[in-house]
Amino acid sequence: MQVSVVGSGYVGTTIAAVFAAWGHEVVAIDIDAARVEALNEGDPQIEEPGLQSLLDAAIGERLRATDDFDAVAAGPCTVITVPTPTDPDGAVDTSAVEAAVGSVGAALEGTSARHLVILKSTVPPRAVETVVPQRLQAALGEPLGERVHLAVNPEFQAQGTAVGDFQDPQKLVFGAVDAWAFEMLERLHAAVLEPDRPVVRTDPATAAMIKYANNVFLASKLSVVNELANICKVHAIDAYEVMDALGMDDRIGARFLRSGAGWGGSCFPKDTDALIAEAGAAGYDAELLRGVRAQNERQPLRVIDLLETHLRVGEATITVCGAAFKPQTDDIRGTRTRPLLAALEPRAAQLRLTDPSGAIALADEFDRVEAVADVATALEGADAAVVMTAWPPYARLGEHLDAMAHPVVIDGRRAVEPTPEMTYEGLTW
Ligand SMILES: NC(=O)c1ccc[n+]([C@@H]2O[C@H](COP(=O)([O-])OP(=O)(O)OC[C@H]3O[C@@H](n4cnc5c(N)ncnc54)[C@H](O)[C@@H]3O)[C@@H](O)[C@H]2O)c1
Repeated sequence: MQVSVVGSGYVGTTIAAVFAAWGHEVVAIDIDAARVEALNEGDPQIEEPGLQSLLDAAIGERLRATDDFDAVAAGPCTVITVPTPTDPDGAVDTSAVEAAVGSVGAALEGTSARHLVILKSTVPPRAVETVVPQRLQAALGEPLGERVHLAVNPEFQAQGTAVGDFQDPQKLVFGAVDAWAFEMLERLHAAVLEPDRPVVRTDPATAAMIKYANNVFLASKLSVVNELANICKVHAIDAYEVMDALGMDDRIGARFLRSGAGWGGSCFPKDTDALIAEAGAAGYDAELLRGVRAQNERQPLRVIDLLETHLRVGEATITVCGAAFKPQTDDIRGTRTRPLLAALEPRAAQLRLTDPSGAIALADEFDRVEAVADVATALEGADAAVVMTAWPPYARLGEHLDAMAHPVVIDGRRAVEPTPEMTYEGLTW
């Protein structure tokens, strides 16, 4: 079937390429002309394993990009994947979603075919019931729920594994009120509607809440793990040994038990902030979630406490290895390297940042952080290396010890294979 995907970022580009691989005719729409041009040339503009080969197969065949919203009228459904950032108070900024559904509504005005607008952006339940449908309806010039419908279909993919996650989802959540809308969601996902794949069919606001609950639960699990792990560390106990045992209890689950320098990314921080803000606006103080968030702000600063047990930070050249919020992505949104650099910048004698991806651009946000792409060069003369992203090559940091002034390695991600020559310190082990 023909489908439009509005927003060609991490989610939009991935799902557009996979939809094309599933046999749909896909139009990717974005307001950023440079992004549209790059996509039409086969450049996804993001690092995501498996995406380039899907794009190579699809572009100019079943997938094309445009900045012209009129393309949405050619098919029965449009998927919205534009950003929903939070402002400094944590309140969700739904203006991009409102603008996108406004453009879609305007393109559908005066047409006659049924159409389903699917929100895949993470949008708070309140907005799903108020500003978003209001804007769509106003642009459309006719009541929603008759010819044109709105559905919520949250996305659970994780960056770094997004293609595989979308091709083999653990669950599908369809939030709609109309039988035809559910039927369209099923047709769109026909390739993965297998008998043992869970499909949750619910109303749009509940579907939106499921997405927030999913992310905020995972973020909370990690903050609890990090808090327990800090307590392990002060007792000289290896938190990984403790968590391995916890993971054997299927009430807890074995995943998301790796402690370290904290969680980041575009979704966990903003969705936790959003849920706290949305609850607050409705008169509920989400105190526990505020604690989860605060724990994650403190966590990367533990690195500095450990550094100070090995050297004088004010006299040291420190190389921070890893800017991306996790390996296999160049995304620096929410990266824990940012608060670490911000805290170290006024204190350290010299600061260097290395990362094998475009994430090294994080250094541009700071006056006194030198970007050095090559890890071996970045470690020359350094007094300490701090690992903040578990990029595979950092496992062999021991190969560069000879070039360092002192072989101090603080590992924030349990990424390094320690060697006898190394003064190695794990953040929580
Ligand atoms: N990144 C993830 O792994 C992930 C996972 C699940 C859900 N989400 C949610 O998906 C949404 C998109 O996230 P992302 O990381 O892909 O965002 P992104 O910032 O990578 O990309 C968004 C794209 O939308 C475009 N855009 C902005 N306003 C537009 C408009 N009015 N019309 C058309 N295009 C417009 C931008 O130019 C950009 O290309 C967010 O709500 C996010 O919370 C993200």
